[in-house]
Amino acid sequence: MPTPLRMKNIELGISHIQSFLADREWQPVYDRVKQCHRDLIARTGKGNDFLGWIDLPLQEEALVSRILDDASRIRKMARLFVVIGIGGSYLGSKAVIDALGDPFLPYRSDTDAPRVVFAGENLSGEYHARLLRLLDANDYAVAVISKSGTTTEPAVAFRLIRQHLEKKYGKEGARERIFAVTDASRGALKNLADAEGYTSYVIPDDVGGRFSVLTPVGLLPIAVAGFDIRALLEGARAMRTLALQSDDPAVNPCVQYAAARNMLLQAGFSIEILAAYEPGLASLVEWWKQLYGESEGKEHKGIFPAGVNFTTDLHSMGQYIQEGKRNLFETVLSISHTAGTLAVPADPGDADGLNFLTGMPLSEVNRMAALGTLLAHVDGGVPVMTLGLPTMNEHHLGELIYFFEFACALSGYTLGVNPFDQPGVEAYKKNMFALLGKPGYGPETKQIRERLTNDE
Ligand code: PA5
Repeated sequence: MPTPLRMKNIELGISHIQSFLADREWQPVYDRVKQCHRDLIARTGKGNDFLGWIDLPLQEEALVSRILDDASRIRKMARLFVVIGIGGSYLGSKAVIDALGDPFLPYRSDTDAPRVVFAGENLSGEYHARLLRLLDANDYAVAVISKSGTTTEPAVAFRLIRQHLEKKYGKEGARERIFAVTDASRGALKNLADAEGYTSYVIPDDVGGRFSVLTPVGLLPIAVAGFDIRALLEGARAMRTLALQSDDPAVNPCVQYAAARNMLLQAGFSIEILAAYEPGLASLVEWWKQLYGESEGKEHKGIFPAGVNFTTDLHSMGQYIQEGKRNLFETVLSISHTAGTLAVPADPGDADGLNFLTGMPLSEVNRMAALGTLLAHVDGGVPVMTLGLPTMNEHHLGELIYFFEFACALSGYTLGVNPFDQPGVEAYKKNMFALLGKPGYGPETKQIRERLTNDE
């Protein structure tokens, strides 16, 4: 029977999954995860040419300084910073910026940081038309981020925005405002960046998109937004030390989390819901969904990653989680100290009957909602793990990001899949290109159009 895990900063609580696993042996799963830990560190497992992320917390100072210099240059010239990218090329930076930023401020009042907005993470004409209107009225700069350099969504958005930039600032002015983050030597974006002389950053060959937040993919937008990338890397370094040094689940939270998830899967819990009680963590949940979904969901295996924002979603998904099909487990992010000191005010009429809360900080009301929900969900048949963080800052986010990445690699290996590829993502692209009549797709175009006609 495993003991709860107390780490320096992040605490993984597993006591509320134990009763669901009472008749199961942990040791075989621990043995398997430990073997996977050895494979990961010896770089002998599947996808071992994509393990560069393991050492990203040790980023060279020269690269960090260069990013900070460019970030301060961008802050001087822009009130908006457009990050063009999809999947791993934007979710990590958005996760950190949203977790630390102020949702109500278009610009950070305490710094000269521009507002960061995202493009090329969808194909909506309406979204991009509205964005272009915003760019008409504001000075802006752009990061175009694509490892492959050929992904349709960001490529289409970059066409639009590059044209807009050149019209607004001229070709030379546009060149100064475009920052390309891409492969070291290959791909359409690399070729264009070289030809046009854009400032460029490299995504290392051995780092896949969803593991790239600690490369310039994430670090440049996060630095432009005014957050401390050195502290982010420092937090990731602290977790790296913990993750690498031992395969003991009582010491290494990544081993414990990977083992617990796989134990739950074997017991029939095939959907994991990551829950947060701070709206600012919604994008972190999205980043986590991509990390686990793309890494584990293959060969008809995997735990389906879902996400909720509580207490908001207790009024939409709460019913299902409480009483729907019993194949769910939850991992709840809980932050001990949140910003803001608001307390519930007194109301002389007490029309809502809430005067018993007078003077209580909202954070405490939120905490009680979380504890009450946890017990209700456990009673309703949902195993719940908790991931506690002292507070939300760059350091702890760095720890959390590395924790999830390392645990994801272990968990994927434990399932027996290659966590570092994503072959299934190609299927929609093939059909889309055929439907769009891409040159070279002649027979497929005919076939797929016939199939759609027959389906009508
Ligand atoms: O994790 C991954 O590799 C993917 O999600 C990619 O990040 C995503 O498809 C975007 O690819 P690219 O950066 O090549 O445009």
